[in-house]
Amino acid sequence: MMKGQELMNDGTLPPGLPNGTPVWWRNPHALPVDAAMARSSLDGEMVKEAEDAWEWYGPLLAQLFPETAADGGRNRSELRELNRIAGMIGLTRGRLFAKCDYALQTTGSIKARGGVFEVLTHAVDIAREAGLVEDGDDLSKLAAPEAKAFFARHRLLVGSTGNLGYSVGLAGCRLGFDVEVHMSHDAKQWKKDRLTALGACVVEHGSDFSQAVCAAREAADRQADSHFVDDERSITLFMGYAAAARELADQIEEAGIPVDANHPLHVYLPCGVGGAPGGVTFGLKRVFGDAVRCIYVEPVASPCMLVQLALGIDRPVSVYDFGLDNRTIADGLAVAQASQLVARETRHMVEGIATVSDESLLIWLTHMWRLEKMRLEPSAASGFAALVEFGGEIEVPDSDREITRVIWTTGGAYQPETEFAAALARGNDLISSM
Ligand SMILES: Cc1ncc(COP(=O)(O)O)c(C=O)c1O
Repeated sequence: MMKGQELMNDGTLPPGLPNGTPVWWRNPHALPVDAAMARSSLDGEMVKEAEDAWEWYGPLLAQLFPETAADGGRNRSELRELNRIAGMIGLTRGRLFAKCDYALQTTGSIKARGGVFEVLTHAVDIAREAGLVEDGDDLSKLAAPEAKAFFARHRLLVGSTGNLGYSVGLAGCRLGFDVEVHMSHDAKQWKKDRLTALGACVVEHGSDFSQAVCAAREAADRQADSHFVDDERSITLFMGYAAAARELADQIEEAGIPVDANHPLHVYLPCGVGGAPGGVTFGLKRVFGDAVRCIYVEPVASPCMLVQLALGIDRPVSVYDFGLDNRTIADGLAVAQASQLVARETRHMVEGIATVSDESLLIWLTHMWRLEKMRLEPSAASGFAALVEFGGEIEVPDSDREITRVIWTTGGAYQPETEFAAALARGNDLISSM
């Protein structure tokens, strides 16, 4: 606490942060892309390998998630232009889009890009070791009963606030794995119930996300034939997310939108532990270089990546050290301590971080339903709240340019009606009282 106070006093952190006031922090450590990439220990080619792997997994994905079959077993989401929202918030220049991961056909959240990818990668790895498949094979045979019996002898573990657990749980159970999901106290009951109904073992923790991940990691260490999907440290997860950059780039190209120094791309990414936004940022920087600016968005009570990057030190920092309580309606973003992997790898790539209030999430969840019929969960509405609150400041370096803004809407389509209706009712009340 004292250390945090000292650092705040010297201006390292935005003054409003410990009071829970929404802030915009422009990253003073951001570097031009070549210098940023040179400081990363990850090879950009790994993103290409992940893109190729997703293609190879297509026939298997189509078996496991028949909803994706029409798209060749691809885990892709729509890029939707939001003209009505742009009009409502008074955008006069440039364009506004939503990247619709909230409706990803596999598990309805961005965490599928990492979680499903890592489950498939692990399944293929162990099947290859056992001689069940070879490079280049049609992988749909891994959905057959014999493969299922093989996977049933292996265990997958994961620690999660909900959506990663659901992604790993659903893909893992459909392949036949024995799945154990460790959930933090913030995890929504319906997410736990859904996993239990799939046949996964749900271990409930009274503690926060970081401790649930730690417990899952230790449980995996104690068990033979187990694989831990590590939301804090996994490079496979990171690359699964990073592969989304090519998908977005193709959609932007198809829409005929230039992205260059005079036509910058601003991408708003909800940030929890950091894997999803970090991976996407790494992938986007590789594709668009300095023409893309990536903005992370965190709840006012859980700005874990902001404190980690702002302090710039090589040991974990927690939001609790600054008197914040990590309590937020955005369960997917309720993380007190950022991934050290992501902080290290994207420190010089992120444009900055905005924090947003729970009320603004509910208000934006409601606007997005009223105007676009998008069923978002609170975490997924955070990019809109950040754009509206801080767009003026965020866009200063590009104010005379045609900016294409992409708000990554990261989850919610598969939430139960009662859950969504309750959030909408709160959002409606907040809007009426404005
Ligand atoms: C809906 C939603 N959006 C964003 C995120 C943030 O992803 P990450 O924790 O990898 O930063 C999560 C994480 O679970 C999520 O569930």
